[in-house]
Amino acid sequence: MVHKVAVLTSGGDAPGMNACIRAVIRTGIKYGLDMFVIYEGYKGLLNGKIEQVDRNFVSDIINRGGTILNSARLPEFKNPEVQKRAAEILNNIGIDGLIVIGGDGSYRGAQALSRLGINTIGLPGTIDNDIASTDYTIGYDTCLNTICECVDKIRDTATSHQRCTLIEVMGNHCGDLAINSGIAEGVEMIVSADHPMNEQQIVEKLGQLQGGKKKHSLIIVSEKQFANVYDVAKYIEKETGIETRAEVLGHLQRGGSPSARDRILATEFGVEAIKALVNGETSICIGIKNDKMVHIDIEEALAMPRIPNRNLLEVIKLVNR
Ligand code: ADP
Ligand code: F6P
Repeated sequence: MVHKVAVLTSGGDAPGMNACIRAVIRTGIKYGLDMFVIYEGYKGLLNGKIEQVDRNFVSDIINRGGTILNSARLPEFKNPEVQKRAAEILNNIGIDGLIVIGGDGSYRGAQALSRLGINTIGLPGTIDNDIASTDYTIGYDTCLNTICECVDKIRDTATSHQRCTLIEVMGNHCGDLAINSGIAEGVEMIVSADHPMNEQQIVEKLGQLQGGKKKHSLIIVSEKQFANVYDVAKYIEKETGIETRAEVLGHLQRGGSPSARDRILATEFGVEAIKALVNGETSICIGIKNDKMVHIDIEEALAMPRIPNRNLLEVIKLVNR
């Protein structure tokens, strides 16, 4: 049975992380545990940025974007010596349980600490929705809605000027944000890892649309599909004669108040993590699959392939263009 439990956020921040921290702290205290927070992810852990907190510490944060614990990336955490030092720091304070909110990189760090005797649980926190062991990650829903708000605004000016606009969205190597925002916005083209298109194919399709008297076009591009989306815009303009712009939405996609859906999901995950630790579980990550909370061994979760949603790809073919 765990007695002292800490929580940290790691990797890119995501709206809803605060709601998750709140649920972890409040549930832990309800179960009679001593609750700690670690600032700045694994970096802060190594620097001893750890403090015990009470339930009031997490008051008035459920609606706030970002993470009140700050997040960080520390590539050195892959080094087993560095991991050992981190486990020693936790052992010296008597922290026997650790909840890591982050993406699959953060899960690998959690797995390493669990091998060193710390009871660890991973919770999916990233806008990318790129974790195969869960249908949804904390922050994805808010980010998707933020992208849609931006595209709505871009559409107003793109249609007024009858331009083609490429909109690059985040997601790392995962196309979920691109595909789902593309469907939600009914854009003319979507370019992602699961739905690839090269410059030439875009130009050809624009030619077909022009032939059909379509003047303006919106194209959602998942990041990492092209080295430079501004160069792609120039190429399209040169080849088609259509005035073309590129917009990289960037970090505004990670900010903002979490959606109700993200707050609820994050709260459920936080509660589930404490219950799992109290039940003696370790080295697992928690996810949601078909509307049910699932507990999956971290090793198994990290090996799971991400399966593209064929249904959505079919929807794009039938409805978008
Ligand atoms: P995410 O958790 O969102 O996938 P990163 O891949 O940047 O983000 O990982 C966050 C942090 O997790 C890294 O900066 C590093 O400290 C830790 N991490 C990533 N990969 C590993 C690994 N293979 N072993 C141990 N720790 C890792
Ligand atoms: O993992 C979240 C994410 O926002 C990705 O979508 C993106 O590729 C990356 O982080 C950006 O990282 P940084 O904030 O370090 O520029």
